[in-house]
Amino acid sequence: MKVLSVVGARPQFVKLAPMAKALAAAGVEHVIVHTGQHYDINMSDAFFTDLGIPDPDIHLGVGSGSHGAQTGAMLAQLDPVFDEIRPDWVLVYGDTNSTVAAALAAVKLHIPLAHLEAGLRSFNRAMPEEHNRVLTDHAADLCLAPTEVALRHLAAEGLADRSVVVGDVMVDVCLQVRDAVAGRPLEVPVADGEPFVLATIHRAENTDDPARLRTIVEALAGVPVPVILPVHPRLAAKAAASGLSLEQGNIRTVEPLPYPVLVGALAAAAGVVTDSGGLQKEAFLLETPCLTVRTETEWVETLENGWNILDPEAARVAELAVRPRPSQDRGTPYGDGHAASAATAALLGRRA
Ligand code: UD1
Repeated sequence: MKVLSVVGARPQFVKLAPMAKALAAAGVEHVIVHTGQHYDINMSDAFFTDLGIPDPDIHLGVGSGSHGAQTGAMLAQLDPVFDEIRPDWVLVYGDTNSTVAAALAAVKLHIPLAHLEAGLRSFNRAMPEEHNRVLTDHAADLCLAPTEVALRHLAAEGLADRSVVVGDVMVDVCLQVRDAVAGRPLEVPVADGEPFVLATIHRAENTDDPARLRTIVEALAGVPVPVILPVHPRLAAKAAASGLSLEQGNIRTVEPLPYPVLVGALAAAAGVVTDSGGLQKEAFLLETPCLTVRTETEWVETLENGWNILDPEAARVAELAVRPRPSQDRGTPYGDGHAASAATAALLGRRA
């Protein structure tokens, strides 16, 4: 069997890592196509190196642009690639422009399409990611859902017969990396044993309105302990454009972190403030309380017992960024760390 994975943005490289391993272990031929949506070394190549992912077989080098230009360029370039390789499955990940472009390219060529991380919903139609994931799920022949909640969303949209819960592949990689980096020194600017908060902000709804971005940055600056802020290119660009300094109060900016450094820092942090989907869940897995600067989350299981709290206006950052860990058991709503082999089995089992 031949599977062709399409990835392009940072969170997809993290999900690709366990899938590449599981597909190789099952003897599946695996072709990796990188759209080039993310192209900075520390947003892309570093993940392939650090997570032991084979180099992409094909790199489209699409780069930045408006949503339409970026998605359209990927679609046009994927067409001949899929046509030449003719895989048994095109496998797409998550909810980015790379996901929806590859989904459209596959279905138009009648190539079976599988969507990993299917069924997530924010029900917020202002988010580009919400459209990307809904369109991709409805195009897919196989929806690989991370959770029972995701499966319920798919069933509610009439997609139950092509959906299966496989667990969350991010658990596989996060727990492996946690164990690998345990005991290593933290590579973030804090003194030994000093409590700190890890923060990331990159979503368009938070970065693209200068007044909102200022509110969030000022809230982070007022946290009573150091705030390590890895700066996503979108955040850097939008802050610079509105003349907003990120070096304020307790904020300590750093470049986007390699995944093992991020996992080490997250496990050691007293709290997390973020608008990233992945980080909310990684915080939950690593038992670090999280505050999410959004009106909703797709990862609703993290909200149980207060492991994750929504703070849409960033009004409670100073008060809640550092708070005691909840004492209740978190359970394992995201699976047991074997999602990639379950997803591989589903691909093999559904082969036409
Ligand atoms: C994309 C995804 C988002 C995901 C995020 C993870 C979409 C619609 N959004 O958002 O779901 O959470 O990736 O990071 O696909 N840039 C660089 N260097 C890079 C990459 C981007 O400078 O390596 C700049 C671009 O020029 C652009 C900005 O960062 O101005 C945003 O990049 P883009 O890929 O459009 O979207 P993200 O905000 O990263």
